[in-house]
Amino acid sequence: MTRLIVVSNRVSPPVGEGKANQGGLAVALSSALRETNGIWFGWSGNEIDAFTGQINFARNDGVTTATVDLEAQDVEEYYNGFANRTLWPLFHDRVDLAEFERTFAGGYERVNARFAETMLPLVTSEDLIWVHDYHLIPLGSELRQRGVTNHIGFFLHTPWPVLRLLLALPSHRQLVEALFDYDLIGFQSQTWLDSFLLYVREQFAEADVTEDGTIRLGERTVRVVACPIGIDTREFVASARSEEAEQARLDMLKSLDGRALIIGVDRLDYSKGLEQRFHGYERLLADHPEYQEKVSLLQIAPPSRENVESYQDIRRQLDALSGHINGEFATALWVPLRYVNRGYDRASLAGMFRASRAALVTPLRDGMNLVAKEYVAAQDPDDPGVLILSRFAGAAEQMKEALLVNPFSPEELADALAQALRMPLAERQSRWKALMANVEREDVHWWLRSFLDALDDDDGEPTASLVA
Ligand code: ADP
Ligand code: G6P
Repeated sequence: MTRLIVVSNRVSPPVGEGKANQGGLAVALSSALRETNGIWFGWSGNEIDAFTGQINFARNDGVTTATVDLEAQDVEEYYNGFANRTLWPLFHDRVDLAEFERTFAGGYERVNARFAETMLPLVTSEDLIWVHDYHLIPLGSELRQRGVTNHIGFFLHTPWPVLRLLLALPSHRQLVEALFDYDLIGFQSQTWLDSFLLYVREQFAEADVTEDGTIRLGERTVRVVACPIGIDTREFVASARSEEAEQARLDMLKSLDGRALIIGVDRLDYSKGLEQRFHGYERLLADHPEYQEKVSLLQIAPPSRENVESYQDIRRQLDALSGHINGEFATALWVPLRYVNRGYDRASLAGMFRASRAALVTPLRDGMNLVAKEYVAAQDPDDPGVLILSRFAGAAEQMKEALLVNPFSPEELADALAQALRMPLAERQSRWKALMANVEREDVHWWLRSFLDALDDDDGEPTASLVA
């Protein structure tokens, strides 16, 4: 099998070292990389005074990781700056939160060039290179400029923004043009892919876009696919049935004292719709007082990107709102909202998912959302919980049997909660079965194979002509 080099900003920390990485990208890739004998290249997560380009190799669980330290200015301008203050909000429809600073764009270019320069000696002519996510859009182009002719694929884990918003980015054309240096671009859903094609048709009139998803721009040809990421379903099901998960489930049931559990698990990010979710729950308690003292919402939300102000703001808002809801409805014997800012190991999460009657997965925008799939995989087939899922998550394209909601509407959220809480067993089972069939079929292994088969699909054409 062709050796695979995966490149992403964040490389999963060695097993047993520090807290588990909470991101969907890292979680999915650590499963996926186990299947290949490749190298995973990226940032170590460390900051140093001056960039050295020295690679630290490690081997964990059959995966070789090769990481580099970044200097403080890089972390500030590239990671906290362009990636998380400019692109992330823009790609999640929050142009109001996006900051456009020349120094951020400069840091982004610099770090992508540094990544290319540093990984270059690792690349042999046979390797397949697979670059991930919005942090590294220009990396393919930087590698081509250094003579790399290998097949290079790019996968975007986030949404692709609507045209009108992307135009707010001063360097939008340059960013998109860099994508033409890849051989294959993968999106999480047809919606994001269509949005990308719309941009290309509008902004690159000279590009030739064919029906089968091939785009030609001058000498360069790139194929585009919608290829939704999945979870390691078998592993997650096993984890949900483990002793540890069962213990977590029993502990949870005990603490609930007969009440129905509603659960939410998300990074503490403004794109996850947590404020609206809390308002939806508040609405349920106000409009359906019969549920007071009968339900409990557990929201697990570990802090994320804490150096970015908009994340500090959303945290403060949620602190206040959770306090407000509990102040309004709690009794001496009942706390309606359990709001927890920490991570859990996967078995405990699975056990808590299994103890719940419903899950709220209601991002305002999300490339995919793996929690939705994990929730389904964790359920007991005889007594499954109900998934309430945002229409605006990539996962909604595959998970139509969930209760699909508009996450901006507290009323819709409250109605869906009431519907979930009174849903008959037979309906819960039939919805779950249909959802699980998809989560099993389109798992992370299917995703990996689909993308790599398309990338490796050698049409006999060397990509040498792509070199700038
Ligand atoms: P994102 O990639 O935006 O964070 P996803 O839902 O796609 O969103 O992926 C999140 C991943 O992180 C899931 O695998 C989820 O189980 C994991 N995760 C989120 N919060 C926690 C937590 N508190 N403890 C453990 N894992 C978590
Ligand atoms: C999302 C992004 C990933 C990122 C993860 C966690 O899943 O698509 O690229 O790794 O969030 O965010 P962080 O900034 O902690 O890496």
